[in-house]
Amino acid sequence: MSETIRKCLFPVAGLGTRFLPATKEIAKEMLPLVDRPIIAYGVEEALSAGCREMVMITGRTKKAIEDYFDRSFELEEMLKARNKTSLYDEVISLAELADFIYMRQHRPLGLGHAVLCGEPVCGREYFGVILPDDVMIARPSVLAQLISVHERLGGSVVALEEVPQEETSRYGVVKAEEKYPGIFAIEDMVEKPAPMTAPSNLAIMGRYVLSPSIFPILARLGTGSGGEIQLTDGIKVLLEEEPVWGVIFKGRRYDCGTQPGWLAANIQLAMDQPGLKEVVLKAVADAQNS
Ligand code: UTP
Repeated sequence: MSETIRKCLFPVAGLGTRFLPATKEIAKEMLPLVDRPIIAYGVEEALSAGCREMVMITGRTKKAIEDYFDRSFELEEMLKARNKTSLYDEVISLAELADFIYMRQHRPLGLGHAVLCGEPVCGREYFGVILPDDVMIARPSVLAQLISVHERLGGSVVALEEVPQEETSRYGVVKAEEKYPGIFAIEDMVEKPAPMTAPSNLAIMGRYVLSPSIFPILARLGTGSGGEIQLTDGIKVLLEEEPVWGVIFKGRRYDCGTQPGWLAANIQLAMDQPGLKEVVLKAVADAQNS
């Protein structure tokens, strides 16, 4: 368990336009993934990596996230009265697991701006960042893998995944040199490069350990691609001053910010659960035969 990284930031103020109309009034982080909302997977990952302060950067339509991680006395009383003890314990434990802190990003000015909104809470400490719509299933958790590199080598750390060359324009992509197996010293990064100009096929995925030096950099950064303040642009400046490592993480990733990714995640996670695998297989067989 990490002694060094206590805080984890969750930027959840995005508009979720790729999942409209479902996300018109519901936060995409509250969409269910089998038996709990997407955000719960991120919080469990941060907890298993040793973080105890969850800093949510929220926006309009995100109030349900706050309620989800709070006590719910009516529900608790009802479960107690009906002797549903294990459900009762589960509902109580959510609110007791960690401290939850909420900061508002008043306008969705980009991921870099959302991270900057966490400065008053994160102060001068290194902190974790989880983009919860990238659901990662791994043991140890992906954030824990990044924290262990930070504890060994110092500096900031980003999660990397090899992507097909033709998909580089969907991600931040790095130019990097492999220093240890699976661990890269990052030299440069580009947001959404065309496949022909991409410096590699190593793309940054939604997990970071960041130095507090990122805050003044983000504060003076102008808007970049898409008219937003890009976190990638901030880390690009940071790596001129401090080491930034990239780790090819071990585990499965699901992009739950899109309908196909969310659907695939639901099916695959259900297949992992005893009792649900048969339900999925039967539903698919029935659909094929109908
Ligand atoms: P996305 O690129 O997934 O954007 O943001 P989005 O707005 O959530 O979704 P689409 O693209 O419109 O479908 C990556 C992460 O950064 C957060 C999002 O909530 C998500 O976790 N974010 C993005 C913010 O918190 N604020 C922003 O201004 C932008």
